[in-house]
Amino acid sequence: MSDGLRKGLPSYGDEAFSLFIRKVFIKAMGYSDDALDRPIVGITNTSSDYSPCHGNVPQLIESVKRGVLLAGGLPMVFPTISIHEIFTHPTSMYLRNLMAMDTEEMMRAQPMDAAVLIGGCDKTLPAQVMAAASANLPAIVLPTGPMIVGHHRGEVLGACTDCRRLWSDFRADKITAAEMEQISGRLAPSVGTCMVMGSASTMACLLEAMGLALPMSATAPAVHADRMRIAEASGRCAAKMAKSGAPKPGELLTPDAVHNALVALQALGGSTNAVIHLAAIAGRAGVEFDLVAVDRVGREVPVLVNLKPSGAHYMEHFHHAGGMPALLRELQPFLRLEARNVAGDTIRDAIARAEEVPNQDVIRNLDTPLKQEGAIAVLRGNLAPRGAVIKQSAASPQLKQHTGCAVVFDSIEDMSSRIDAPDLDVRADDVLVLRNAGPIGAPGMPEAGSLPIPQKLARAGVKDMVRISDARMSGTAFGTVVLHIAPEAAMGGPLAIVETGDRIRLDVEARALELLVDQMEIKRRLEAWRQRPLRRDPATRGYAKLFEQCVLQADEGCDFDFLLRDGGRAKS
Ligand code: FES
Repeated sequence: MSDGLRKGLPSYGDEAFSLFIRKVFIKAMGYSDDALDRPIVGITNTSSDYSPCHGNVPQLIESVKRGVLLAGGLPMVFPTISIHEIFTHPTSMYLRNLMAMDTEEMMRAQPMDAAVLIGGCDKTLPAQVMAAASANLPAIVLPTGPMIVGHHRGEVLGACTDCRRLWSDFRADKITAAEMEQISGRLAPSVGTCMVMGSASTMACLLEAMGLALPMSATAPAVHADRMRIAEASGRCAAKMAKSGAPKPGELLTPDAVHNALVALQALGGSTNAVIHLAAIAGRAGVEFDLVAVDRVGREVPVLVNLKPSGAHYMEHFHHAGGMPALLRELQPFLRLEARNVAGDTIRDAIARAEEVPNQDVIRNLDTPLKQEGAIAVLRGNLAPRGAVIKQSAASPQLKQHTGCAVVFDSIEDMSSRIDAPDLDVRADDVLVLRNAGPIGAPGMPEAGSLPIPQKLARAGVKDMVRISDARMSGTAFGTVVLHIAPEAAMGGPLAIVETGDRIRLDVEARALELLVDQMEIKRRLEAWRQRPLRRDPATRGYAKLFEQCVLQADEGCDFDFLLRDGGRAKS
């Protein structure tokens, strides 16, 4: 099946010459004819000095290469852009589609029979899988793996759930600036991705559940020898795929795989960001995806994984408790067990090989769940006609049914400038509303949805409030936070017309988010908004313009409309 070096020749009008000249140039690097005759495995290099989450990529590449060579393939490393959550402005989500386009086009443009996708930080794995789905080239995902945990004054710490908790304590004057300096060197004590069940860990786990990565590849710590062995095995697997030409992403990204991902997402206490990424991946694969299924699965599947921010432990503990295969074993009644993985096995096979770890408290069983319902609930109502999500597993139980008065912020800048103002008229039972922070409004839908508790309330001991927005939230965050309201305010969604003082009702059990304002008044305000929409200046050039014109809403995955499998258009 392999085409090797003959694949995708440049057009010089003479195919034989094109191959000849390709060989001329590659031989400049010292390759032999024997090497150049092998099936080629492309390996993405997403190493960057800006990405500590990818700090082990050079070592992983060496291990992958070893696996490819041992299995008779030729490894070829190529760079793609890399996105680190904390080092990208305005937000990493803004660049996810750019990374997906870059990766897809380089997978198509360069000769390779299969690819190993090495990524980890939040948006990188989704971008790479979106690319692979569109290129439909055999590909295996290799996550960079989570960091090991940190320690401070006898407490175990992890980025970034504890970053947020400790920052809140600092804002409430419970921690000094000097101690915060010390803590800043302890929250992320190794390379690798955040070691709680944030977006990076969630996506790595979901992709393993979908069969796109080898068993145990989501959880092995970035600096553990297991990680390097998994990299070698991934290289071997990729060489096998390069020889056989299978399985292609289209064979793995099936409705069953997406269903299994939703089951895993709910049981993991996973990140709300995963809902957006799964929608985007499904859109690339032509698999139907809707928020109704997310909620239905969430009603049935309890949270079983006792990891922060929903629980107590960290990713390395999950790994040592048996990782995803052990979790999937507990979830068997909900899974489509005949779904296949990159190695040609079924999920049933992977479960059969799962390790039994006695006396562990990280992976619960169905009789002793961490939470009775899944992590994520989907809300609807006159404030969110196309849906909104809440990570109910990380919300305060007493706020899941709550009615309060809106305190509205028109933008992230407005929120930043006023949230801590001593004269801000706000009470603990109010509802903080942030708008114009969605895919188009911000742009890029930043993780600003977990609005800070106003400082005067934080100092008075308030730890959580109902917060609603069209933004996203880090998977490492916690609180009663309603996100991804669609349509967003910048598109004229009802969030655009909420006024300070309006009453808002949240009822997670009833899956309701309602603006308690007379229907005629809502209509009047929407009409007035259409006459004079509150929006920032439109982008005039470059990627910003492309983004603004083509990005889909949150419920559709925030992909670009022209990148969907059928080149479809957004819902109106
Ligand atoms: Fe990269 Fe958290 S910042 S995974």
